[in-house]
Amino acid sequence: MKFFIDTANIEDIKKAYKVGVLSGVTTNPSLVAKEGVKFEDRIEEILKIVPEVESVSAEVTPDAETAEEMIAQAEELIKINGGDKNITIKLPMTIPGLEATRYLSKKGVKTNVTLIFTVNQSLLAARAGATYVSPFLGRLDDISEDGVHLVSKIAELFRVQNIDSQIIAASVRHPDHVTRVALAGAHIATIPYAVIEQLVKHPLTEQGIEKFAADWKNAVKS
Ligand code: E4P
Repeated sequence: MKFFIDTANIEDIKKAYKVGVLSGVTTNPSLVAKEGVKFEDRIEEILKIVPEVESVSAEVTPDAETAEEMIAQAEELIKINGGDKNITIKLPMTIPGLEATRYLSKKGVKTNVTLIFTVNQSLLAARAGATYVSPFLGRLDDISEDGVHLVSKIAELFRVQNIDSQIIAASVRHPDHVTRVALAGAHIATIPYAVIEQLVKHPLTEQGIEKFAADWKNAVKS
């Protein structure tokens, strides 16, 4: 399973990229709005600082309601940073979103169908040609459903049906989500920087580092 970072925050993206485990970036209208910057400018900035990833998802804005409006936005987005091959157009799981996914995937543009909450939605997105499908596990957990179970059913479906769309486990809230979606067969987990830090840390690792340092200091003294 690969890691994407789920943010539009430049500092967090830079930190995660430097660690060397990053394969992509996902953004959404809420994440961009939180940054208080112009959408296209932020996507361009992101594309420039992560040249070696496979995908940077830019979501069509909520005012694009028809497939034509979504496609028109996508056609502007794919020109950013000189037609960067990493740009991935993120589209909502709606009828117009599927129509736009089909159109763009036929043109060779990478797509990510977002806001997936059922196995059937993932099948539709895959058949529309989505490069990526994004089930939101945390939001399912929030309503007392099992988000990881959804990811595992989608992984099973894609295996059985020989589908090559990649599953991005999204709305990941904590390290246990990461372990469980990796075991469930997600290709990618998109996670906030705070979760990357949590994945690194363990109290015994910290204690071990402190003990090595103390023993080393004592040995150097004697
Ligand atoms: C995924 O692409 C979304 O941006 C994201 O994971 C949503 O997560 P949230 O439910 O924490 O907002």
